[in-house]
Amino acid sequence: MKKILFTLNIAFLISICGFSQQARETFLLDSNWSFINQEVERGEEPELNTSEWEVVRVPHDWAISHNFDMNIDMQSVQVLEDGEKTAQLRTGRTGALPCFGVGWYRKVLPISDSDQDKRVFIEFDGAMSLAKVYLNGEFVGEQPYGYSSFSFELTKYVRFGQDNILAVRLENKPESSRWYPGAGIYRNVRLVKTSPVRIAHWGTYITTPVITDKSAEISVKTEIDGVGVAESEIKLVTEIFSPKGDKVGTVYSTKKDYENGSFAQALKIKAPQLWSIESPARYRAVSRLFVDSELKDEYVTVFGIRSLRFDKDKGFFLNGNHLKLQGVCMHHDLGPLGAAVNYRATERQMEILKEMGVNSIRTAHNPPSPELLQICDSIGLVVMVEAFDEWKNGKNKNGYGNYFDEWAEKDLTAMVRRDRNHPSVIIWSIGNEIREQRMETGGEVAQFLADICRKLDPTRPVTAGFNQHVAAIDNGLSDAIDLVGFNYKPHDYKKMHAQHPDYILLGSETASTVSSRGEYKFPVTENKGPWYSDYHVSSYDLEYPYWASTPDTEFEMQDDCEFILGEYVWTGFDYLGEPTPYNEGTPARSSYFGIVDLAGLKKDRFYLYQSKWSSEPVLHVLPHWNWPERLGQNVPVYCYTNYPKAELFVNGVSAGIRQKDKSDKYSRYRLMWKDVIYQPGEIKVVAYDENDKAVAEQIIKTAGEPYTLKLTADRTKIKSDGKDLSFVTVEVLDKDGNLCPKSDYLLFFTVNGAGKLKAVCNGNPIDQTSFSSNYMRAFNGKIVAVIESTEKSGEISLMVSGGKLIGNEMKIETVN
Ligand code: GAL
Repeated sequence: MKKILFTLNIAFLISICGFSQQARETFLLDSNWSFINQEVERGEEPELNTSEWEVVRVPHDWAISHNFDMNIDMQSVQVLEDGEKTAQLRTGRTGALPCFGVGWYRKVLPISDSDQDKRVFIEFDGAMSLAKVYLNGEFVGEQPYGYSSFSFELTKYVRFGQDNILAVRLENKPESSRWYPGAGIYRNVRLVKTSPVRIAHWGTYITTPVITDKSAEISVKTEIDGVGVAESEIKLVTEIFSPKGDKVGTVYSTKKDYENGSFAQALKIKAPQLWSIESPARYRAVSRLFVDSELKDEYVTVFGIRSLRFDKDKGFFLNGNHLKLQGVCMHHDLGPLGAAVNYRATERQMEILKEMGVNSIRTAHNPPSPELLQICDSIGLVVMVEAFDEWKNGKNKNGYGNYFDEWAEKDLTAMVRRDRNHPSVIIWSIGNEIREQRMETGGEVAQFLADICRKLDPTRPVTAGFNQHVAAIDNGLSDAIDLVGFNYKPHDYKKMHAQHPDYILLGSETASTVSSRGEYKFPVTENKGPWYSDYHVSSYDLEYPYWASTPDTEFEMQDDCEFILGEYVWTGFDYLGEPTPYNEGTPARSSYFGIVDLAGLKKDRFYLYQSKWSSEPVLHVLPHWNWPERLGQNVPVYCYTNYPKAELFVNGVSAGIRQKDKSDKYSRYRLMWKDVIYQPGEIKVVAYDENDKAVAEQIIKTAGEPYTLKLTADRTKIKSDGKDLSFVTVEVLDKDGNLCPKSDYLLFFTVNGAGKLKAVCNGNPIDQTSFSSNYMRAFNGKIVAVIESTEKSGEISLMVSGGKLIGNEMKIETVN
């Protein structure tokens, strides 16, 4: 039998060698789009009127570079999830940027006469929102949900020998989102040309049903899309490449293995390298489709070999190893870059979170960009991919609820088919705090959605996040899913586990602590529902809205409940919109929930999570030591650390040693000196190991007047591809190099050479300066400039100056 197989494979190989033609061509449609931010007459043959149309690059967010205006999203609305009994005035809820209205995009497609015998497709990773796509004036298709990826076949609308004009109409209706949705073709678009028979869109599905130390079984399902296939001599060859790029397996299939439009292949590879958080090894499957020995298509799928296990008592296991989910929720915006996808900006977010000890991301509350998952695959983060924030009974007058009946199945199918090969993806979420929790239909709808996920991918569990957990249990919703997600219910974990021992529980949304980077409020006490007239909240990390809690409250329950899979903190980064607690008639236009601010600068809370989640040594002291208005008054000092103990010295005098203890939840996770009296000078915290040896220290000095600027780039060498970014942090320092922690100096940014100033952001949720301005105030001594390369290699110079400060320059090199 073995011999026959071998002969057959040789014969097969001989029959296919020599065909190296390009079977599939993919064109990234990023440059030279025409855009207009208004309704236009479509007409049969849309003309490109360049005088009125702006030339833009895609991914594009038409609203992000505009001025903030609190009138834009002023609305009277009742947010049931925030416990509102009547409609309230809301401002800044969607970022106070002009993301509403109609926008049109047009582009001449790269199609020529020689493409006559090909099929032509257009693929969108996402377009915000209510997309209607036309080619040469003819309607091709639509996609209402702005977060879904979609593809249309254009072949029958193509006119060979003429310009082929793609036109896309998008519309964001007011009151269609609870946060900043972005606006426009904000994700990548590709034109794909294939032969009449091809591997279907998202047509491969790779699983690894059996994994041992010695080998892994790999199952590859490949769907074929094409006409007259049954009659032809059809063959599929799948080659597997190791993370290093060596070929480690090949499987050949012929027509007899082809059933119902797809091939099912299986092979075994030796000594598999498992995908994990620490070592995210990725394999590649290259699928080649032949008809009558002619190569028709070639398709690459990246996948990983890893096992998942979710246990109702013991939690989550990746490759058999316990992994408590140290997760954060992330909205899709990239701060000052808006929703427009940028690989480096996304990667930077993930790197900062990973440094904090995060091992999981929840894509709140919608399918993410493909780039986010590629990055999580490659740096080692596991992901909960979420589909919806609302089902039929929507939260927004013009939101997804209006499209749910017609589109939910298609959107969920698109999500699972697109993302099911990613090793990073471990959980599908079908909804966040959906209002059906309190309705009789809840269980039925959940069953319908969960079944879609399970049919397309039986290897991952389905979850949903409940804020009304008791109602969702009563109406059968939680029985329809595999993992029961609780939003803000740490106090109920033990009770729910006792009452429902078969449920697998997780904290799908936790904490929601609010803070403004570098702002501290007195007296220092836990504060449910903070509100200050300067529209800031305290960085002592004790403030939160009434439904939420501090990080420590959740830590305690996570530590005490082995059965909980882990938590997803609301949120990793600040995001545009939802400026709780300043929702009503304030200048606030972005959130305070982030552990990291909108500019990507770490708030104090970053170090609290890092001290808990990371194995790297952490020693962080707060607050700053510039309190002229509190001379002789109390200024508590906190230390976030994973060293066993530490001693505080105030101007050289010991204020005592602290070590963590379980007397209360704060002493369990923070070191606190509550009675410190402020005098200018310095505070020094010395950390000791178990043997009382001093092993680390941090000093904070009272800073003098602002004197100069320090510039630090995350990368000083970037790619000259017109997309790569360098994030330059600018700090206002005194003469001795201390950070001026209250400085709001107005700074000016000038960029010359092979790059441009893409955006500036200071992380202050109430700053009304446009992100695309060339000047902005520092916020508590810091600000970030985002520099983008051009397509020419060379040097970029960034010059930052401000008033009487000694300015500074930073050079960034761009290379091919
Ligand atoms: C949750 C909701 C999130 C966000 C958060 C703020 O209820 O799921 O989207 O609004 O509250 O705490």
